[in-house]
Amino acid sequence: MATATEVQLVRESWARVSGNPDAVGKLFYQNFLDKNLMIKVTLFKHVNMDVQRGLLMKMIDFVVRDLDNVEDLKVFLRAVGERHAGYGALPLHYPIVGEALIASLRQTQGPNFTAQHEAAWVKIYGFMANEMIIGQLTDDGKALAAKYQKRYFAQVEREHTAQERRNIIVAVGVVAAFCVGSYLLLKKKN
Ligand code: HEM
Repeated sequence: MATATEVQLVRESWARVSGNPDAVGKLFYQNFLDKNLMIKVTLFKHVNMDVQRGLLMKMIDFVVRDLDNVEDLKVFLRAVGERHAGYGALPLHYPIVGEALIASLRQTQGPNFTAQHEAAWVKIYGFMANEMIIGQLTDDGKALAAKYQKRYFAQVEREHTAQERRNIIVAVGVVAAFCVGSYLLLKKKN
């Protein structure tokens, strides 16, 4: 786990965020989702981002405060990871989130966010992600992931069918308008 110096570096840089968590949260989701549109339009399609931003910032705040209680944190983070299986999160998504988070800290803190701060965050975020992924790989986590997949594909099918229905209605409408138009034109000529 992280050394006392690394914990201190993380806390120090996180304390600067507490002045304006919303700005860092907004920047984080910009970094994360605007560069990963597939994740944005699938996993986050129906998520209220104002609420989500607050929850994420609070959770990171909680973890940063509690870094001295590693064993308790592991239990907590594994439960969060298990829930994430049900949101459609995959292990390969975690480095993307980590990079977006660290980039938003760097962008908002400028030279105050040193290479040492960054290295400490890489370590602590790595710990968080690792515990969450372990939680995701439990039997309950796997069952939630399977449930997400089923729900997701059912939704795609519903939306796909609805789009096809809309396409047919538009096509029928165009053909009907063409027939009526031709009929009226012919009538006018005769
Ligand atoms: C250390 C990393 C992460 C932290 C601390 C975190 C934290 C959170 C928190 C606090 C919530 C609110 C709901 C809850 O507490 O269960 C949440 C929701 C969510 N997270 Fe994460 N998350 C992380 C990584 C990820 C990753 C890698 C993904 C995958 C792309 C992801 C996707 C989501 C989604 C889609 C929701 C919204 C769920 C919904 O409302 O339907 N998260 N996250």
